[in-house]
Amino acid sequence: MELLKHLTECNSPSGREDSVRAVIAAQAQKYCDEIYTDTLGNLIARKGSGGKKIVLCAHMDEIGVVVTYRDDKGFLRFAPVGGLDKKNLVNRRVIFPDGVQGVIGIEHDAEKNEISKMYIDTGCAGNVQPGDMACFTGEFCESGSIVISKALDNRAGCYVLLEAMKRLENLSCEAYFVFTVQEEVGLRGAKTACFGIDADYAVAVDVTDTGDTPDCAPMSVSMGSGAAVKVMDRSVICHSEVRNRLISLAAENNIPYQLEIMTEGGTDAGAIHTTGTGVKTGGISIPTRYIHSNSEMADKNDIKAAADLLEKFIVSFS
Ligand code: CO
Ligand code: ZN
Repeated sequence: MELLKHLTECNSPSGREDSVRAVIAAQAQKYCDEIYTDTLGNLIARKGSGGKKIVLCAHMDEIGVVVTYRDDKGFLRFAPVGGLDKKNLVNRRVIFPDGVQGVIGIEHDAEKNEISKMYIDTGCAGNVQPGDMACFTGEFCESGSIVISKALDNRAGCYVLLEAMKRLENLSCEAYFVFTVQEEVGLRGAKTACFGIDADYAVAVDVTDTGDTPDCAPMSVSMGSGAAVKVMDRSVICHSEVRNRLISLAAENNIPYQLEIMTEGGTDAGAIHTTGTGVKTGGISIPTRYIHSNSEMADKNDIKAAADLLEKFIVSFS
């Protein structure tokens, strides 16, 4: 899990993916045949040649905040970058690229979810200005079979792609590992990344909610029950060929799996399946609790199951 730790420790909000991209590129370089960054900043690594073209996709960016205004005392007003849980922002810490940290405070009479009444207090450290972006802090920790971090969404997915890439040998298909930018602000990177590839099949790897904590919204995914094969979310209805292939491969190889139907939120699969004349697209998801908080929680066995299933999926075309 050293690599996962390293990936989650990068501070790379949407549109500022440079640091995490450098870490991923350094790893991917060792295992792929060709690697490049496209115009928007997506990192694309190809392994194998000839035969079917398969896209495996995970977003690199994480949620954060952007400074909109600095008052004369140095308090910073901000706006969300990606979907923030507005009720749980106060007292959380953020970190700017130069290492300056700040605490989110709120005006005395404000409702707990009014971002316009919140501010970041850096104690006037550094020289943060409007336009600067920050990420939330949240140390990586391993405890029993689980991991906790502020950025399992979606460094866990990036880790799964790198794991699968590492294991593949002598492929007679073309696997494109696509690490996308700006997913959290609307699946933007995936839109252009897959345009030039003209893939036959695609699988997006991302985190998904669970329905296994006290009094949560009902959902059939639970942590520790295996990789989730996506049936649909708000952005995509997965192609039945991909969905069924993933289910059969999991069953044949004794990889624990469950089915995911997510009623809120989307993934890169949403952007990929409508590129060009359409791509047969599915998803493998990692059951994760407290998504978009500074303590996202997942089970290492589910992450391993996702990597195993992704590997089998790619090899099945070779
Ligand atoms: Co997310
Ligand atoms: Zn995500």
